[in-house]
Amino acid sequence: MIYLDNAATSWPKPEAVYEAVSDAIQKGGNPGRSHSEKARAAANDIAAARTALAQLFHIADPTRIVFALNATDAINLGIQGMVKPGDHVITSRMEHNAVTRPLAYLEDASVRVTKVATDPVKGADLDEIRSAICPETKLVVMSHASNVTGTLNPIEEIGAICREHDVPFLVDASQSAGAIPIDVVKMNIDLLALPGHKSLLGPTGTGALYVSERVSPHPIRSGGTGVFSEVRLQPEQLPYYYEAGTQNTVGIAGLCASAHYILERSVNNIYHEEQKMLQHLIDGLIAIPGVVVYGPHTSPRAAAVSFNIEGMDCADVAMILESYYDISVRSGLQCAPDTHRMLGTFELNGTVRVSPGLFTKAEEIDAFIKAITEIVNG
Ligand code: ALA
Repeated sequence: MIYLDNAATSWPKPEAVYEAVSDAIQKGGNPGRSHSEKARAAANDIAAARTALAQLFHIADPTRIVFALNATDAINLGIQGMVKPGDHVITSRMEHNAVTRPLAYLEDASVRVTKVATDPVKGADLDEIRSAICPETKLVVMSHASNVTGTLNPIEEIGAICREHDVPFLVDASQSAGAIPIDVVKMNIDLLALPGHKSLLGPTGTGALYVSERVSPHPIRSGGTGVFSEVRLQPEQLPYYYEAGTQNTVGIAGLCASAHYILERSVNNIYHEEQKMLQHLIDGLIAIPGVVVYGPHTSPRAAAVSFNIEGMDCADVAMILESYYDISVRSGLQCAPDTHRMLGTFELNGTVRVSPGLFTKAEEIDAFIKAITEIVNG
């Protein structure tokens, strides 16, 4: 089987992740909930995961990393916690539903949302962001990379604009974290939403939100924290302010192992290797007559590559790849209808999305290109 659906979830995971998950579930323990050896060990594992993630994204204080169910959950905290009726939010036209749906609910609750022009190659328009900012703007929220086309938004430039106008900046790093370098200080990121299970190579059901000292979103969950139990509302100390209930110790132990694996290989090295592989993939695809590749054809980009074969439905192409070639990809709207409206692929039912990962081999890309060539040639 050739797995080219890493934008949905990365597979396989490093061996150390499987071992850490298995160890954690066998060890047991509820972090911060008792004085037992097991509880202390589980708390230490969670602290180690925060430290490793902090190192990956240049975050000075690991307690500013709040664990979440997934990136969507982290984005919901970032958006709902920062915005109230009467406020204004700026976003791009190439967002995943993880951003557009929370914003749509807020629009129904008297929040104004501006979706700035977004180029499939260059990303969100900086001048439009600048001119959209007004006194009511309480958040700019953008993906780092499109989950459909791999387009990178100019995050560093957007961060600088946000800082200049003192507007909090939330970045959805679902398709970049672990594969493309991110420095929250250099990029002026106030809130960074991370999925554990994509390029961070951890288990599903893990995610995190980095909350900088410049912002204080209102919690969207409340409940037990294991400490400060006498306090009526959520204790304002981090990470307890945002983490209610028992943590996913098993998943977070796996995420800790994957973060260490990435630190050892270095995000910079991973990035350069991946860019070369993506160029090989795109060069192969665009050379096939009748294949249209959307988004950037050159580096830098993220590892989600969308295309269509003229005259064929994307779902049929994905089905043929799966059934006849044992190649896994994702077709359709990929939970990003805005992006497809902008690309002009909404009416085509979307695209075929191919997404290699850290463990994809050059031969697998070659086999994929050969399969598409054969499908085109009937
Ligand atoms: N958001 C994931 C994707 O793009 C699941 O496939």
